[in-house]
Amino acid sequence: MNTSEIPGFYRKTLDERLEIVKTAGNLTAEEAAVVANTGSLEAAMADRMIENVVGGMTLPMGIAVNFLINGKDYLIPMAIEEPSVVAAASNAAKMARSGGGFHAETTDPVMIGQVQIVDVPDPEGAKVRVLEARERLLEVCNERDPVLVKFGGGARDVEARVIETLRGPMLIVHISVDCRDAMGANAVNTMAEAVAPLLEELTGGRVYLRIISNLAVKRLSRARATFPAEALGGDEVVDGILQAYAFAAADPYRCSTHNKGVMNGIDAVVIATGNDWRAIEAGAHSYAAMGGHYKPLTVWEADENGDLVGSIEVPMAVGLVGGATATHPTAKANVKLLGIKTASELAQVIASVGLAQNLAALRALATEGIQRGHMSLHARNIAVMAGAEIDEVDEVVERLVAEKVIRVDRAQEILAEMRGK
Ligand code: MEV
Repeated sequence: MNTSEIPGFYRKTLDERLEIVKTAGNLTAEEAAVVANTGSLEAAMADRMIENVVGGMTLPMGIAVNFLINGKDYLIPMAIEEPSVVAAASNAAKMARSGGGFHAETTDPVMIGQVQIVDVPDPEGAKVRVLEARERLLEVCNERDPVLVKFGGGARDVEARVIETLRGPMLIVHISVDCRDAMGANAVNTMAEAVAPLLEELTGGRVYLRIISNLAVKRLSRARATFPAEALGGDEVVDGILQAYAFAAADPYRCSTHNKGVMNGIDAVVIATGNDWRAIEAGAHSYAAMGGHYKPLTVWEADENGDLVGSIEVPMAVGLVGGATATHPTAKANVKLLGIKTASELAQVIASVGLAQNLAALRALATEGIQRGHMSLHARNIAVMAGAEIDEVDEVVERLVAEKVIRVDRAQEILAEMRGK
């Protein structure tokens, strides 16, 4: 490639862009066709969703089974590239089912919009003036989104804090907005921008940032489940999981991986329903770090019968209206498949999957380790990497697993032998 500077790239048609990158990247016709494949999303739709589109990137989507949440059965679509995740969630859900399933709930779907005000001559006095003007501020916000207000949402509250920063004191105003079935970024950002002039007038300062906070502490989703010791494999397994939890609670290196396991489940459903997984990731990890100590998103305890009780509490800013959830055909079909009616119900399902995923990972780690379960799926990837055709994959996998040597070079040798036969 000579240069990545391509004047007017964004103004070209999708086909023209594809041709340019095909030449620049030395792609064969087959490779260019693979890049161009937008799956269930029409190319024209993809082209309207983001900029500089040349194609699509598909992920496998599996269905997690066995989920019983608040007495209702769900088939849960999970979009993820990692082997074992869907099977693990389904297994954990089966164990939870024998203990009555998941019980989940959510707070109201309230998001926070932040307005940053600097150079305020009297920050503490200005803070009080802002709080006094609560009704006027809420009115300005709600005038901006009559549709949200009609559906029972809208700006609900105003909070203000003076914070010390590298650039001196700043007045930070929070607008709490009930977003109902929307994720809410558009509504909240619009409102934060709308109140800025009034806030400057009230405070005598200058407004800079006006943006949603992904630390969605007012939009929490909670789930809990009891996993009978017997279903888990006995008291020792319960003890092992409690040891694993204690490790995560005490050590950020382990806690990061513990929470990654939780997010394996959460993200897969968030992606399958066309929601913003970066927002969910940011919210989850910043919530876990609140209080200055990075904590597990789940909690594990033994009850009086020796059964394992798990719970999760996590910010869950997911929506059903607006965004890709409402436009991406696969996301739309997945929402229908889930049979959910509100964003809150979706948030409850997602928290339950996060809890199930964590249980499955801890159980595997505290017993046989995760590699054995991963082995055949890993071997499948290795077989494909070694060049196995679809009808050769099973035999290569079988032999790799039997030999306990899951390497591309060995898979290639096996293939050569098979083909020589
Ligand atoms: C792998 O994607 C996730 C795990 O590492 C989670 C964990 O360690 O708890 C298995």
